[in-house]
Amino acid sequence: MSISRSRKLNPRKLAEDVMGRLLLPSWVESSEIAGPGFLNFRIGAEIITESMRSALRSGQLFVEVADNPRTVVIDFSSPNVAKPMHVGHIRSTFLGDCLARTLRFLGHTVVTDNHIGDWGTQFGKLLLGWKQGVNREALRTDSIGEMERLYKCANKSCEDDSALLEEARQELVRLQNGDSENLAIWHEMIELSQKQFDTIYQRLGVSFDHTFGESFYNPRLKRIVSEMEASGLAVQSNGAMVVFFDDIAELKSHPALILKSDGAANYTTTDLATLEYRMETWSPAEIIYVTDGRQQLHFKQLFEIHRRWKPRSSVSLVHVWFGAILGEDGKPFKTRSGDVVKLEDLLDEAEERALRVVNEKSPELEEEERKRVARMVGLGAIKYADLSPNRQSDYVFSWDKMLALNGNTAPYLQYAHARIQSILRKQDSSDEGEVVSGEFSLSMPEEFALCKTLLNFGLVLEAVVGDYRPNYLCTYLYELAGAFARFYENCPVLKADALERSTRIAICKLTSRVLRQGLHLLGIEAPERM
Ligand code: ARG
Repeated sequence: MSISRSRKLNPRKLAEDVMGRLLLPSWVESSEIAGPGFLNFRIGAEIITESMRSALRSGQLFVEVADNPRTVVIDFSSPNVAKPMHVGHIRSTFLGDCLARTLRFLGHTVVTDNHIGDWGTQFGKLLLGWKQGVNREALRTDSIGEMERLYKCANKSCEDDSALLEEARQELVRLQNGDSENLAIWHEMIELSQKQFDTIYQRLGVSFDHTFGESFYNPRLKRIVSEMEASGLAVQSNGAMVVFFDDIAELKSHPALILKSDGAANYTTTDLATLEYRMETWSPAEIIYVTDGRQQLHFKQLFEIHRRWKPRSSVSLVHVWFGAILGEDGKPFKTRSGDVVKLEDLLDEAEERALRVVNEKSPELEEEERKRVARMVGLGAIKYADLSPNRQSDYVFSWDKMLALNGNTAPYLQYAHARIQSILRKQDSSDEGEVVSGEFSLSMPEEFALCKTLLNFGLVLEAVVGDYRPNYLCTYLYELAGAFARFYENCPVLKADALERSTRIAICKLTSRVLRQGLHLLGIEAPERM
């Protein structure tokens, strides 16, 4: 209809033309033109039944594995050494992990790389602070907290005393020149930070193929800058080396620095070297960067420089950016005292709150079991609250909303899954064989509706990786749980007779598998009971 509008055609006439030329597959039972120019197609029951049967037999959940798999590099999470991971890194971690899982599930080759910030000017002050008085005991119990303190201390004293600021600069220069003492301290800072990050990743169930970090690319920087100067891509400007984008309206007033006037390379130079390394090492078809929206300009510059630098490259570079997490007051999410919220504290609180919900709902479970379920529910709630909104909009962090058992939340979906499991636990062993081999026959509209929703699973996953939007999967699972609830309300399962019974048990099975798989792709576990 929008084509007919833009071309000033009669929409019904256009619909007739289109319909006349379509080659419809045999499983389309009937088709018609309706209203102002809608094309309606009716799918025959047989193809739905056949798809369900084949899913039951094969275990394939309505997903076609890519026949042209591609290699995709995903750069996500990427916290900074000596700084706590905060709620901004949480979104990158969840989004990146979900995209990695989904791409892999669809048969693509995925390389995940945690681009840790382990190099940069902050190390001048960190080294100064460390030498002025590192507290070994504090370093042992909360290393990142201690390093954060050292940095703040040094920063404060540099503000008051320009001699100290100069000293911090010297420390940085010494590090850059390979001074052995500074290198040793720097290595220790990285190792301690990594340990603390790893604890969190383990809790989150997230892992990476590589964690090279920014410093890994240092040996490439000088050469790249000279290459760019020699080719005229970058030019000297006020003592710095700069790339101008005069022909691009958006970037015209935002030239990119690739070498500062003090001779130091920066974030952009490192990202160019990183790109070069990734292309050499994995020849990916696609590289995805997951960071918050404030880095949009950086990635626009980076991608444009790369386009000029490697004009023959066909790699697709994508910045998957996201908005902020807000407190219930609508301002950036902070603790009561105004500090950034640490990921660790957030996870602790999520588990505590989830435990209260589980204690209330399922007092009959053993304590250990309740704790285990609470971990899945608490973490699931945070992940889902993060993944279900459109990633580019800010969202308000609300414990009550994310832990609600009814609503578009992880606990609701986990509960739906657990409920199906409890139905399935009640089936007889004789049901089992019948379900797989037996006849499958749909009659009720709610059965059809649920099965048609199941059929969409693969298409939804394609859309998730096509637009880099896990929220499509969330919406889908929520709809699936809704379709199941309507089915269960209207179609008795265990009390039904023979054919209906085995059909409905089979539908329950498929629904729980898709729910479980879908949650798994979001990085969320589905407990058997809750
Ligand atoms: N460490 C950066 C930060 O915390 C994110 C790095 C993102 N990846 C990249 N290749 N630039 O903001």
